[in-house]
Amino acid sequence: MIEQLEHLERDGVEAVAATTDLDELRARESELLGKKSQLTTLKSGLGRLEPDERRDAGARLNECRRQIEAAVSARRSELEAEARLERLEAERLDLTEVIDGPRLGHLHLVTQAHDQLEDTFVGMGFTVAEGPEIETEWYNFGALNFPPGHPARAMYDTLYVDYGDPESTLLRTHTSPVQMRVMEQNEPPIYVVCPGRVFRSDTPDASHMPVFHQIEGLVVDRGITMADLAGTLDEFTAAYFGRDIHTRLRPSYFPFTEPSAEFDITCVICEGEGCRTCGRTGWIELGGCGMVHPNVLRNGGIDPEIYTGFAFGFGTDRLSLMRYGISDLRDMFSNDIRFLRQF
Ligand code: DAH
Repeated sequence: MIEQLEHLERDGVEAVAATTDLDELRARESELLGKKSQLTTLKSGLGRLEPDERRDAGARLNECRRQIEAAVSARRSELEAEARLERLEAERLDLTEVIDGPRLGHLHLVTQAHDQLEDTFVGMGFTVAEGPEIETEWYNFGALNFPPGHPARAMYDTLYVDYGDPESTLLRTHTSPVQMRVMEQNEPPIYVVCPGRVFRSDTPDASHMPVFHQIEGLVVDRGITMADLAGTLDEFTAAYFGRDIHTRLRPSYFPFTEPSAEFDITCVICEGEGCRTCGRTGWIELGGCGMVHPNVLRNGGIDPEIYTGFAFGFGTDRLSLMRYGISDLRDMFSNDIRFLRQF
């Protein structure tokens, strides 16, 4: 019987180690240790043995059972660990794989343009200021030397906002009112740019929108001349567009500057050769500028006998149109993600 038990143990342990999954192990376990197992049969035969023999055989039988049980439990842990690994592998999400999933967003063209413009001017020693989009008529017109009823007010298709008395309010038609607010709040020297959104009652078409963007510049210091204005605009365009792009001034009229000018830059498409974009002139109109009118300085609390200044302002959406060859301004604002993604 001892011999039989030894075989049983050796074969049993081997059989357990050879199982390949938990179901098989369970089946093997009941075969080896269950009610119908050889071990159980042998155990019931113990009673027929002599007492001495019975003690030895009983001890051996218990040992045999323990060994097989230990083998089963060791194999079970192994198989469970394997099964767990397999399950994890099957459930694993590969988060590194990007097929056509969500894409990173980015800043809108308008914001990108303003960031770049600000960077350029900050590099030239300017600071950045902002003002409200809903303005009083005083800041938008009166303080800027537009007398009441002056025909120049009609140049702007103003959208008024009815907040009732005491002041007439409107959606600012340009960024120039920020000049006034800066002058009121700061002592010269002032070197500031004011980017922002402006509004005019215009019907949208390929080159006009009722909501568009401008950047305003204001410099007030001792001894500022028109030459400083011309030099600053030239420096700016070279820094922003590149050294081959130049500026020129043409006489013009604005109530808040005297003298006033409009400024053009070398056509960035043909670099001055003449093309469709610039109407074969080699130049593109960018904005207005001039020497700050003494009345405007006074309205801003600055003594025009001590200080002089220049100002300029231009639309920034056109810069993006030119830069990317966009043919319709409306595309920039219709929020079609397929369009915006390109930039
Ligand atoms: N505010 C003017 C406009 O929107 C542009 C402008 C012209 C701004 C001359 C200035 C300036 O600062 O000096 O048409």
